[in-house]
Amino acid sequence: MAEIALLTPYKMGKFDLSHRVVLAPLTRSRSYGNVPQPHAILYYSQRASKGGLLITEATGVSDTAQGYPETPGIWTKEQVEAWKPIVKAVHDKGGLFFCQIWHVGRVSSYGYQPNGQAPISSTDRPIPAQTHHDGTVEEYSTPRRLRTDEIAHVVNDFRLAARNAIEAGFDGIEIHGAHGYLLEQFMKDSANDRTDEYGGSLENRCRFALEVIEAIVDEIGADRVGIRLSPFADYVEAWDSDPEALGLYMIQALNKFGILYCHMVEPRMAIVDGRREIPHRLLNMRNAFNGTFIAAGGYDRDEGNKVVAEGYTDLVAFGRLFLANPDLPKRFELNATLNKYDRSTFYTQDPVVGYTDYPFLESSA
Ligand SMILES: Cc1cc2nc3c(=O)[nH]c(=O)nc-3n(C[C@H](O)[C@H](O)[C@H](O)COP(=O)(O)O)c2cc1C
Repeated sequence: MAEIALLTPYKMGKFDLSHRVVLAPLTRSRSYGNVPQPHAILYYSQRASKGGLLITEATGVSDTAQGYPETPGIWTKEQVEAWKPIVKAVHDKGGLFFCQIWHVGRVSSYGYQPNGQAPISSTDRPIPAQTHHDGTVEEYSTPRRLRTDEIAHVVNDFRLAARNAIEAGFDGIEIHGAHGYLLEQFMKDSANDRTDEYGGSLENRCRFALEVIEAIVDEIGADRVGIRLSPFADYVEAWDSDPEALGLYMIQALNKFGILYCHMVEPRMAIVDGRREIPHRLLNMRNAFNGTFIAAGGYDRDEGNKVVAEGYTDLVAFGRLFLANPDLPKRFELNATLNKYDRSTFYTQDPVVGYTDYPFLESSA
């Protein structure tokens, strides 16, 4: 069988990957009380392969970081202990495992906050209610603008979360700097209306994210730090008037810290003549970045092979396809049929259904 580009080995810093098919971070809302559960051992180990890189679902850095049902955290001893057997199961299969650390900022509501307080953000402007695909409406509470002197505390929460992730056994961490959450609420000019040194110019808007990166690099070393960015996205009212400049400014700053990888999300997919078409707008950023580049958003086997073969990216992260196909690298190798994902169970709380019950190739044959 001809070797395909996605299944060629790659050296990511000190980590030897045997293929380039990465599990994208996927919130699954099954960590009751913000504590990872034993069913996650099976879920992640099903998706682990020797020399394959997995990224966890977004994981809260503090008790103010949540905005969705039953998402995991990594700020308490109990959470760290609960992650340990999950990490071990992935390592036992030879996989590499990075923890995506996260603060939602204003993408939250009083019910998710300690003592029902206001969510924290760059701004005190709320996100208008959003209507989902299925017609349900999501409401967000009015946030509280962080005072300048409070920002260092949040930076410290990220630092401690990164240390906790290493304590739990993870190989490294991915800073969630994408999709309209707290870091992007500072970075993007639609959501940052501050007048202090964290608002206004591009340099000022990126200051918070860069302080987070610096603190984490000091704590665990640049060779274990990645970041996810989505300069072109416009989720939850976070967009930028000049996404290209934002992306390039961040890349140049990342180079100074020498971090391991940059994981970027493609702009929303376009439909051209009834066919999905990935806009491939990340090339300038890929070319400017000195570390490993991971692209995500709308990829399948053919598109993934193409972009790796062309050098557009080093690795490709797969979200929905990996969610529904625990043995995705194997299926790509064999060019096998893929299970279809069931959107209705993406975020439900069942410990099995839509979570660990997607069949493997052998069992579906
Ligand atoms: C159920 C679900 C949960 C997601 N959770 C996260 C998350 O926790 N962190 C994150 O950065 N992206 C998250 N995403 C975005 C995915 O990582 C990925 O970028 C997106 O699904 C597009 O890639 P795909 O076309 O391969 O699915 C999520 C997507 C889905 C479908």
